[in-house]
Amino acid sequence: MTDVNRYYESILAAADFIQDRIDIKPQIALVLGSGWDLLTEQIENPSKIPYQLVPGMRASGVVGHAGEFVFGSIAGKPVMVMSGRYHLYEGLTLQQVTLPIRVIKQLGVEQLILTNAAGAINTGYQPGDMMLITDHINFTCQNPLIGENDARLGDRFFDMCHVYDPRMMDCARDVAKQQGFTLQEGVYAQMTGPCYETPAEIRMLRTMGADAIGMSTVPEATVARHANLPTLGLSCMTNMAAGVLDQPLSHTEVLDTANRVRESYGKFMLDLVSKL
Ligand code: HPA
Repeated sequence: MTDVNRYYESILAAADFIQDRIDIKPQIALVLGSGWDLLTEQIENPSKIPYQLVPGMRASGVVGHAGEFVFGSIAGKPVMVMSGRYHLYEGLTLQQVTLPIRVIKQLGVEQLILTNAAGAINTGYQPGDMMLITDHINFTCQNPLIGENDARLGDRFFDMCHVYDPRMMDCARDVAKQQGFTLQEGVYAQMTGPCYETPAEIRMLRTMGADAIGMSTVPEATVARHANLPTLGLSCMTNMAAGVLDQPLSHTEVLDTANRVRESYGKFMLDLVSKL
């Protein structure tokens, strides 16, 4: 079997495995990063599948993330939620990192919401702010689509002008307006991590037009675009990026902010899912 056929077979095997264990057809998929996990508590009639049970998938290696799919409904809509995701810095290939997005597409999901925690580069932002991702910069300098293209998954060359779906973005803006919720808008840049960035890197990213920096989302959004799966991206500004404040970054600060916003973010998501 060629590499593309092997990858395709692994997508089908994972999707078949899941399909046999669920009795809903998920319409929306949500990938939850730090700060966003309250949402798993808002799922009605939840049923869970840990990643490591799914053929071709492994346990997610990041502390604080459950590493499981949760199926159920939010605001009456059938959803699937990824509580925890794979990261490049875990030593995985980008094809492994993005396999769940292929599986989500294969399951017939119509809309994808990617969330993450990020450092604020834009000095007009504050820790706790939510940012609507309007575009991204791929600073991993890697791409999950390098290698032979599988036309069953998408085209070789495709447009990246609208990675984040304009209609879904309008829904997010409407929810923010209704709730009186401050929703920043900006460009998300991804570096590989796992260390945080240097102040010099943050200054460079700022001059290049980035508003926030994180360690996920870009490969997933790229694959979703390849798969023609409408996608929305939302970031939780857990901290000001390195060098913005005269203090070192700590993972504790990131987790503390994520805890603080959990409830209001959960409320935002509930309305968003019902509106999409
Ligand atoms: N940099 C990269 N990733 C992050 C940050 C950051 O400052 N905060 C949360 N995730």
